[in-house]
Amino acid sequence: GEGLAALGRSGGITFGTAINSGWLGDAAYAAQIVTEAQLLVPEWESKWAALQPRPGSFDFGPLGAVASFAQAKGKQLRGHVLVWHEAMPSWLVDGLGEGAAKARSLLAAHLDGVLAATRPAIRDWDVVNEAVANAEGNPFTAATPAQGDLRDTPWLRALGPGYIEEAFRQARERDRTLRLTYNDYGLEGDTPWAEEKRQRVLRLLRRMVGAQCPVDALGLQAHLLMDEPFRPEPLAGFLRAVRELGLAVLITELDVREGQQLPGGLAARDAAVAERVRQVVGTALDAGCRTVLTWGLSDRDSWLARDPGVMRKDGQVHRGLPLDDAGGRKPMWQALATAF
Ligand code: XIL
Repeated sequence: GEGLAALGRSGGITFGTAINSGWLGDAAYAAQIVTEAQLLVPEWESKWAALQPRPGSFDFGPLGAVASFAQAKGKQLRGHVLVWHEAMPSWLVDGLGEGAAKARSLLAAHLDGVLAATRPAIRDWDVVNEAVANAEGNPFTAATPAQGDLRDTPWLRALGPGYIEEAFRQARERDRTLRLTYNDYGLEGDTPWAEEKRQRVLRLLRRMVGAQCPVDALGLQAHLLMDEPFRPEPLAGFLRAVRELGLAVLITELDVREGQQLPGGLAARDAAVAERVRQVVGTALDAGCRTVLTWGLSDRDSWLARDPGVMRKDGQVHRGLPLDDAGGRKPMWQALATAF
């Protein structure tokens, strides 16, 4: 039947997924993407370490493979990510340690190279990712200590809190037609630490908008945790405040990590995941979100099945994506189809 790409389109929603260039030769994988997704984001290929593995030497090969696939299949592409504290080659970390002038020129050179080479294929970039510090209690990571609202990163140490605005301004200067997004995680739940992080992100976005910094959108990663309670209102109130700043809202990396305790049986697990997705995506769509991406399409291809930091510890695989490991559509798929 119709995929989420077409179902989204009929509802005015652009649905998409993260993809891997190395798997595009797998016919079943490629077919799933073609059917289900209208918007593609490379899971790795547009990160700094992929694009500029050595100083001044760019490699657009893997990203080019994603871009050719997108073009051949009539899909849109988004870029992820220009400035992040992960996927940094060690020469970059070293260079940032040499002070502000050097840091500024490294940023400028990266944006020069990347934005020129990806124009016009990519119209939409995550400019800065995960710059806001986690609050006390956040279970995702042992967060590095915060400086104010911001996470302690090599960028912050080199350029101070202004590095975020600098990145957005530099991106806008190089291409006035790009949609520029600030992207972050841990903003969806009904917990004190999620609420504190929402306030921190809101303060950042208010400062940026107040300073006429060219930010266009907030990306909610939406790596959801079943162990975290959810109610629509805290998220809805936050998204209303973001929209009042004139910003768009996107869901950029949706997936679901199941809890410590699994409800018995696959049907119960899948129903619980689908219900959470229905609530969170429904809340975002009600707030005017019109773009939804999952971080992969199937449980088999997901980082949740292979990344030690997020895999289950009990040998089971998270059932946190729309398709199961055989490519079958799960209740989460249905929840998205119905929401669109
Ligand atoms: C993840 C990828 O999925 C992994 O394969 C990789 O090892 C680490 O990065 N937030 C983001 C994404 O913004 O870039 C991350 O992607 C997942 C969390």
